[in-house]
Formats: sequence, structure tokens, C-alpha cells
Amino acid sequence: MAYQSAYNMNYQILLCLILFSLVLLLPLPSHSADPSPLQDFCVADLDSSLYINGFPCKNPDNVSSQDFFANGFQQSPGEFNIFDVNVTRQDVQRFPGLNTLGLSMNRVVLKPGGLNAPHVHPRAAELALVMDGKLFVGFVTTGNVFYWKIVTSGELFVIPPGLVHFQLNIGHENARFFASFNSQNPGIQFAPLALFNSTPSIPDLVLSKAFQVNQSIIELIKSRFATVSTVSTVLKSSY
Ligand SMILES: *[C@@H]1O[C@H](CO)[C@@H](O)[C@H](O)[C@H]1NC(C)=O
Ligand SMILES: *[C@@H]1O[C@H](CO)[C@@H](O)[C@H](O)[C@H]1NC(C)=O
Ligand SMILES: *[C@@H]1O[C@H](CO)[C@@H](O)[C@H](O)[C@H]1NC(C)=O
Repeated sequence: MAYQSAYNMNYQILLCLILFSLVLLLPLPSHSADPSPLQDFCVADLDSSLYINGFPCKNPDNVSSQDFFANGFQQSPGEFNIFDVNVTRQDVQRFPGLNTLGLSMNRVVLKPGGLNAPHVHPRAAELALVMDGKLFVGFVTTGNVFYWKIVTSGELFVIPPGLVHFQLNIGHENARFFASFNSQNPGIQFAPLALFNSTPSIPDLVLSKAFQVNQSIIELIKSRFATVSTVSTVLKSSY
């Protein structure tokens, strides 16, 4: 009898431990954005006709040192978009060595007054280092709380994943920062373009109700973006 109750007790403790570990383990998958690699590397084969989550690996026999380097940030910024910002991306589509590694980086250059318009990165948090200039940086939580800061050279800022955020150059010179992401393909969705420059267009009725304004105002905003082919083309090249 004593043996039996001791056995039951041990059994209950064991059960509690298992349940406790399960509770601890459950939230784990949400701690990382991209899945972990299953091998040393998997350089993206961007020409593959297979559509999988990420990209298939290039044959390792054909992988060279060059696959682990990228020099996109050496060129000075080319075209600036309508918001007076140039973003040079080094994500998996431009730097195939990043495939499966859960990392990427952007260089962002803003002219004085330039605004990296409110946007989200659906698959990543952003950690950025300001190199030059003075930026007004802010993000809004799902509870609509606005957090912001003025950041200058040598300072870092972090944006939690999936939240609406922006950067505005409030200095008199160009501002420049490097943003790192915990995804090989963080993605970017600009709120104004997603809502007012989609293809096909979101019906005015929807936007008019959403923004609580007359449809003529919606038409006016849409017309402002009607000629934004450069930005849309750049944005459409990623998914
Ligand atoms: C590897 O590279 C060689 C020479 O560039 C090419 O002929 C061959 O098709 C490549 N193999 C694969 C599997 O990509
Ligand atoms: C920003 O400049 C780079 C050159 O450094 C260019 O490749 C890229 O297309 C430009 N970005 C945009 C959005 O025009
Ligand atoms: C919207 O604005 C137009 C032009 O200003 C006006 O003619 C129309 O009556 C307005 N509609 C509503 C529902 O207020």
C-alpha cells in the first residue's frame, strides 16, 4: 500500500513535470522568424522552377566563396523614390548565400525631409544602426501606442516584427542607416501604397468608409500615386 502511494506520487510528479515542460516548449516556435537551417548552408538557386518555402539549394559542388559575399552597399544610392528615399536591399533575392540563414540587411539613404513612409516588414524584426544624419523614428503597437525617438550617428533602434513604423530625416544632410533583419526575406509593405496604389485598386467605397472621408478625397489620394511606377515595380519584384 505504501509502495503503491509512493508510486502514485512519483507518477504525479512526473506528469506535472511533463506538463510543465510542454507549457514551456509551446511558445518556442514563435521565438524565431525564419526556420533554422538543416545544413551548413543552402545557397539559393534563384533560377530553379521549384516553388518552395524559401529557395532550393544550389548544388554544393558549384558553390564558391563568391556566394557568401555581396557588394551592393558599395554603389552610391541610385534612384530615390517619391518619398525621397533610396533603399538598397541585400535580401536572399539579391544575396543568394543568405538562403535559410534567417538574416538580411538593407541600406537606407534619405534626403533631407525624406520619409521612409509608414510600412511593415511582415516576416522580421529590424535592428538598425544610424551612420549619418538625424532621424525621427517611430512605430505603433497593436494597441495603437506610438513609440518614437530622435536617433543620430552611432545610435541603434529596433522595430518589433510586423508593426507599422517610419523614419523621417529631420536633419539638413542626407541620413543613412543600415537595417538588419531576422529573416532572409523580411518583405516590406508601405501602408500608403498598399491601400492607395494596389493592382487592381481597392474600391473607393471601402477606403472612404475606412478613413471616414468623402470618396472624392480617396480619388485625390489615389491620383497622387497614379504615376508611381518605379516604386511599384521595385515592390512587385518581391513577394
Ligand atoms: C555546375 O557548374 C558547371 C560549370 O559552370 C555547369 O556546367 C553545371 O551545369 C553546374 N551544375 C549544377 C548542378 O548547377
Ligand atoms: C537605390 O540605389 C541602388 C544603388 O545603390 C539601386 O540598386 C536601387 O535600385 C535603388 N533603390 C531604389 C528603390 O530605387
Ligand atoms: C463628396 O464631395 C463631392 C464634391 O465635393 C460632393 O459633390 C458630394 O456631395 C460629397 N458627397 C458626400 C456624401 O458628402
